[in-house]
Amino acid sequence: MVDQSVVRISSGIPGFDALIGGGFVRNSVVVVYGSPGVGKSIFSLQFLREGLKNGEKAFYISLEQDLDSILKQADALGFVEFRKELNSNFVFTKMTGHDFKAFLSIDLPKILSERAGKEARIVIDPLTPLFWEIRDVALQRTMLENVFNLFRSLGTTIITIEKYGNINTLELSEDMAMPLYLGDTVVLISLLFNQNFYQTAVSVLKMRFSQHSAGLHPFEITSNGIHIFQDQPVF
Ligand SMILES: Nc1ncnc2c1ncn2[C@@H]1O[C@H](COP(=O)(O)OP(=O)(O)OP(=O)(O)O)[C@@H](O)[C@H]1O
Ligand SMILES: [Mg+2]
Repeated sequence: MVDQSVVRISSGIPGFDALIGGGFVRNSVVVVYGSPGVGKSIFSLQFLREGLKNGEKAFYISLEQDLDSILKQADALGFVEFRKELNSNFVFTKMTGHDFKAFLSIDLPKILSERAGKEARIVIDPLTPLFWEIRDVALQRTMLENVFNLFRSLGTTIITIEKYGNINTLELSEDMAMPLYLGDTVVLISLLFNQNFYQTAVSVLKMRFSQHSAGLHPFEITSNGIHIFQDQPVF
């Protein structure tokens, strides 16, 4: 019989596991949704780093940054695991060009076949450009469904999506809503404006199979990454 019990893995973000029932659900897809510059890539790096520390395979598929830029960011935060595991457990791919359909259906499965039976943590950062190319909503849905199912079969995945528009509201723009429906978990990183400063905060909009916080939790990005203050109010 197939074991369908929920297994949790640490997010690697101090203060976050307690908000999500102990950790992310293994073999699920987590969508991290937030404004430009708010900390989505650092969140993703911390998630992968946790896996590297445990001897898991970590895939970073970037549509924006090259390897040098990612390693520089990891160095600045003191995340030594990325250089150490480069080309062994840490696999980096820069997605170039514009043929996302071919990338998702042909190249990506090929890249991920490297995982060789190990638990994998996968990051796609950011998935947003895909939506600029695939305007047909029905096709978007089918492709996302297929690729999310592939991710679930291989391990635990974070997809980041850029949020545009009013930073002080939680509304979801229509064209970006699809991955939020299809993902198992949606984490919103907000940038809240309070008179004369910005405060970053994290909230969990949905999480299948889990009891999770309904709060808005402030966080800081320090010289060693994101720290969430789970019991503090935002202002
Ligand atoms: N070494 C560091 N120490 C403290 N804060 C840092 C450090 N590096 C980055 N930051 C903060 O993190 C922010 C960038 O984080 P990150 O690159 O994860 O954001 P992002 O949401 O992925 O951005 P983008 O939309 O550009 O992809 C910076 O704007 C800065 O505020
Ligand atoms: Mg980024």
